[in-house]
Amino acid sequence: MSLWAKLFSKQNQGQATEMPSLTEFKIPKHIAIIMDGNGRWAKNRHLPRVAGHKQGMETVKTVTKLASNAGVKVLTLYAFSTENWSRPKDEVSFLMKLPITFFDTFVPELIQKNIRVKTIGDISALPAGTRQAVLDAQSQTAENTGMILNFALNYGGQKEIVDASKVLAQKVQEGVMEIKDITPETFAGELTTHYLGDLANPDLIIRTSGEERLSNFLPYQAAYSEFYFTDVLWPDFDQDQFNLALQTYTKRDRRFGKVKA
Ligand code: FPP
Repeated sequence: MSLWAKLFSKQNQGQATEMPSLTEFKIPKHIAIIMDGNGRWAKNRHLPRVAGHKQGMETVKTVTKLASNAGVKVLTLYAFSTENWSRPKDEVSFLMKLPITFFDTFVPELIQKNIRVKTIGDISALPAGTRQAVLDAQSQTAENTGMILNFALNYGGQKEIVDASKVLAQKVQEGVMEIKDITPETFAGELTTHYLGDLANPDLIIRTSGEERLSNFLPYQAAYSEFYFTDVLWPDFDQDQFNLALQTYTKRDRRFGKVKA
């Protein structure tokens, strides 16, 4: 029996097993995921770390389809952080080739599902072939109006905040704006997620593999996000796990600092 079936089994009440439908869930508009545990998944199988990343890429495809089918508007995936450059050279090189393989094999399905590819982070520092694959995927899906699949590539949240501060400081220095005009809204307008408008802040942040920290992922945008941590390693994150995250989110009481009406 699947995990999901077990969770909703009515066996104790002598009734047939019931599989809940997505309509029973509150669907987060924006889900952001820290896809952690690829290395441990590979190690558990006596495989090289990169085998975990390859399998992790397959999970990216699965979760993209699940999120799109569920009606999620934005799915942001932490694919490569500004800190990941300090991993062994071979691993970095493999991670840099993954977007090429991913888009080579997956763009037709993205188009069929009306999904639009976008990125946050400094893609100018990526190897030319990787950068081109990302740019091609963005232009091939630019007309799509469904879910936004937003890859955080060479992304670092502290750098994003510092960069936004510099832009605002420059504007003040040039007399384009006054200090009093720096507000959470104008600040958010200088972040890389500003193109998402009122969808910029994730409703739900998922981190796999048992680690419970943000690791420089969307620190400004996460101010009111709900967090879901699971011990499951990213390559093992499947439909049951996705549904479990949605079920947990559905039960959360989001008050945004206010008291319940
Ligand atoms: C963290 O696991 C994972 C990463 C740093 C890379 C994530 C990349 C993918 C899931 C594939 C991305 C696919 C595309 C299409 C870009 P880890 O290596 O830190 O695992 P560990 O903590 O077990 O060592």
